[in-house]
Formats: sequence, C-alpha cells, structure tokens
Amino acid sequence: MKRIPIETAAPYEVVAGENILKDAGAYMRAAGVAARKAFIVSDDVVLPLYGGAVRASLLAAGFQPYTLAFEHGEEHKNLATIEKILSTLCAAEITRSDVLVALGGGVVGDVCGFAAAIYLRGVKFVQIPTTLLAAVDSSVGGKTGVDLPAGKNLAGAFHQPALVLCDTAVLSALPEKLFSEGMAEAIKYGVIGNAAFFAALEEGRADTETVVETSVRAKAAVVKKDEFDTGERMLLNFGHTFGHAIEKLSGFTVSHGEGVAAGMLFACRYAEKIGFSEEKDITVRLKNALARYRLPAECPFTGAELFPAMAHDKKRAGDKINLILPKRIGRAEICPTPMETVKEVLSEL
Ligand code: GLY
Repeated sequence: MKRIPIETAAPYEVVAGENILKDAGAYMRAAGVAARKAFIVSDDVVLPLYGGAVRASLLAAGFQPYTLAFEHGEEHKNLATIEKILSTLCAAEITRSDVLVALGGGVVGDVCGFAAAIYLRGVKFVQIPTTLLAAVDSSVGGKTGVDLPAGKNLAGAFHQPALVLCDTAVLSALPEKLFSEGMAEAIKYGVIGNAAFFAALEEGRADTETVVETSVRAKAAVVKKDEFDTGERMLLNFGHTFGHAIEKLSGFTVSHGEGVAAGMLFACRYAEKIGFSEEKDITVRLKNALARYRLPAECPFTGAELFPAMAHDKKRAGDKINLILPKRIGRAEICPTPMETVKEVLSEL
C-alpha cells in the first residue's frame, strides 16, 4: 500500500492499495474524520457496484450512512444536480460536522466536491475514485465544480478532500476503455515532467499501483507549489485546452480521457508547427504511447473548428490564452499566446 502526502494548506493523504474500499470507514476514522453522518454521493452505475461495500464499512466504523445517486455522465455535471444534492443534504439534516463521500469517477468527484464546498459554506468530504482518471487526476488537488452551457468546469471552487482512497483492485477491474482514459492523464505527467515515467508507459512497463503512485506524486509536487492554479499548476492542463474544445464540439460523445489524448497530440503538433519543441519525434512518441492504450491517435476536428470552442477556456486571460506546450518529453512550458496567433496557427493544423 502507498501513502502519498498532499501538502496543501489543509494537508491530507492519498492512500492507494488493493482491496481498501471495503475498509473505507476505518481509513476515514484513521484520517481524523469524526463525523456522525456520512453521506455517499455516487452515480447510478457505480452505486450498485460498490455502494454496498462502502456503506457496510461506514456502518462498521460507527458512521450513520446515507446515499444519493444521480444519473451518470458529463451531461449531469451541472447546477441542477448540485441543487438536487443540496436539497437532499438538507432533508437528511447533514450538519457541518458531518462528511460527504464521493464514490465514483471524475464527474461524481467534481460534483460531490462542489456540493461539499458550498453546503453550509463548506463541509468535509472524502474522495473514493473508481476510475483511473479520477484516481490519478481529478480526485487530488481540490478542484471541484460543474459545467455551464458555455463550457466545462466554468463554475466551481477549490475545496480539498480530507482523504483520497484509491482501491487498485477496483481500478484494475475497469473496462479497457475506462482504464485507457486514465492512462491519457498518466501519459500527460510523463510528457510535462517525467521522461522516465513516459518511457515506462510507452513500453507498457508500469503496473496500476505504479501508475497511480507516480501520477499522484507528480500532481502533489505541482499542487504543493501552486494550490490555487495561478502559475505552475497550469502545466497540468497540458492537452486540456484543446481537449475540452474537442469534448465540447463532439457534444461530449468524446470522453474526457479521449479528449485529453487528442488534445495532447494537438498541442504537440502546435509546438512543432511554431518551432517550440526541441525533440523532433515528440508527436510520434506520443502517438505510439497513446496507441498502446488504444487512445485516439487523431483529432476528429480541424484546428479552425476547435478555435471558437476555446473562447471560454479558463486558461484565457483577456485576449491571451495560456497554452501548455512541450519542449521535449519530460518538459512542458506555459506559453501565454494572443488569441489571434492561436487562431492563425490552428487554421493550418
Ligand atoms: N486537472 C488539473 C488540475 O487539477 O489542476
């Protein structure tokens, strides 16, 4: 089992290990969660799979458990779902000393975290990610929120969890497509800061626990320096600016992991096009690594089609946008770029 400290203003741990989900309640008590009521927020796919085990563990640890499952999918990551959760928390008389438990993938974690951030001006929550993507990225670092019609993650708050529990047996049992989506985020950490990890992924040499541990340590190092995303943390958005635009244009039929994969390729091609990257095979190596995990090796849209969908990106500041571009495998940089320039370059990709 691995314990990774996340050194934010309110520090916590990510615990990663096999079959730890059935002891979730005990891990929560050990992490200092003293609540009486524990309110599980999940979705209609995950709750039937793991809700029973988590509920039993909460009861065994002396919590009074409650559950709410909303319909799965990015299209339910919205303010209507938040309102439903907040009303149910009121009905269950959840107080500030109680705890919410996000049991599910990235959508569940973001939605439950945002509800925890604003209910009674903030209650504790615990993340139990059941997808690799949530385990290696969204459950760690305290970004919570929902989508607005104008774009992804446009309403939200920073709210760190009290604990993150990653059961590697749950992650290894994922359908191949869901597992691959998480690998897109793992590959991201390799490109932006860890060439050796990228090589291990490229060659298929990393097991699930290593993937989770290395990715979470990479994220922890960045979040420690820039909890509130004003500088270095933007590096974690490598592939996301283009990826979010791809997801949006596809009407969310392209998943987040697939969007990030295609978005990273776009960023590499962009970097090559403007002569920013120093490594000549960067796009080819990325394509090969993505192909190993059956992730898209092409973008379904042209650059000209992507540009309008980037207008509401959070990384936009005035008439500039912070593009994250790779110098080489193992190093990326934040490049503030005028929107006009982005438009011009994209029109040729
Ligand atoms: N997913 C990017 C971040 O947490 O900053």
